[in-house]
Amino acid sequence: MKRKKQDFISSLKIWYKKNKRDLPFRKNSDPYSVWLSEIILQQTRMRTGLVYYKRLKKKYPNLKALSDAGIDMLLKDWEGLGYYKRAKHLHSTANFIQKNLSGTFPNSQKELIKLKGIGKYSSSAIASICFNEKTPAIDGNVYRVLSRVFGIKINISSGSSYSYFYKQSLPLINEFKNAGDYNQSLMDFGSIQCLPKHPLCSTCNQNKICYAFIHNKQDCLPVKKKKIKVLKRYFNYYVFNYRNKLLIKKRGDNDVWGGLVDFYLEEKKERRKDENKINNNVKKLITNKYSVRFFDTKTKLSHQEIFICFVDIKLFNSSDFKNLEKNLGLLSSNKKELSKLAKPKVINDYLKKIS
Ligand code: ADE
Repeated sequence: MKRKKQDFISSLKIWYKKNKRDLPFRKNSDPYSVWLSEIILQQTRMRTGLVYYKRLKKKYPNLKALSDAGIDMLLKDWEGLGYYKRAKHLHSTANFIQKNLSGTFPNSQKELIKLKGIGKYSSSAIASICFNEKTPAIDGNVYRVLSRVFGIKINISSGSSYSYFYKQSLPLINEFKNAGDYNQSLMDFGSIQCLPKHPLCSTCNQNKICYAFIHNKQDCLPVKKKKIKVLKRYFNYYVFNYRNKLLIKKRGDNDVWGGLVDFYLEEKKERRKDENKINNNVKKLITNKYSVRFFDTKTKLSHQEIFICFVDIKLFNSSDFKNLEKNLGLLSSNKKELSKLAKPKVINDYLKKIS
């Protein structure tokens, strides 16, 4: 192995010894805990992830407990974490392992990646941490650290970057007795020292060999060139209230917030122009007196920006309420019942605001 790689590895080992984070799922690398933590941490910061990890691990201490749970309960427990597909995959994989693999996790990267919700990165992370398989887990931290230290200028958004970094990492991971320590040392080093913005170079033990530090290129590395197209969507949510009851709907699986609960939705191609107008089809279904209020908000997801108008309609007659329920395919729920169901964050924020 080249000298620079050797220096990098020996400094990384020293750094990790000193700075390794004391995380609950590192206590006894059992596959269930590691898997649960990896799925939570895929799109969630450590601070928030830890809160959810502890809560979920307590409620579902093992694979059987998770597979025995209802998906609606898990979705409720996942509320606030976002990317709800993760929870659905977690649940279906727990069931699959329980039923088809006698409750035992596969013990290789090749087999782990076949499971729902486990991709290249997570399968390598789990296989290295739990089974000492020398398979590098390439995530944003790894792209950043290796690009900077070794001056790699490959566009990390390109399709071939994963395999390039994977190959570059193989001789590195082989220098560690424990493959999980290699992957986790990079995760920690990327999160604590080699930060995306304002990396802590003056206290970094790699600064004598780091290309980015020596050439003052920390801001240019890693190279990331990708325009992600953000789709703009316009939702009008009709919130029908009668006394303590609301009309709700369960979302289908093929769109954002699949399986969560929302309200009657009218999606438009453009932003609302008639600011205080309500949909004619809705209007026709109300024959008695009502009052209406409008609340505008928006929410940003990874690839979508959703502009939302909540049209809050207070009804004074139960026949209107029932008519709307039947004709618009909605369900009646009182506020207490509704509080127990998993809802998107914007809906929860809205309910808090109007209560
Ligand atoms: N992020 C994802 N998995 C992690 C792990 N095992 N340790 C630290 N950070 C992580």
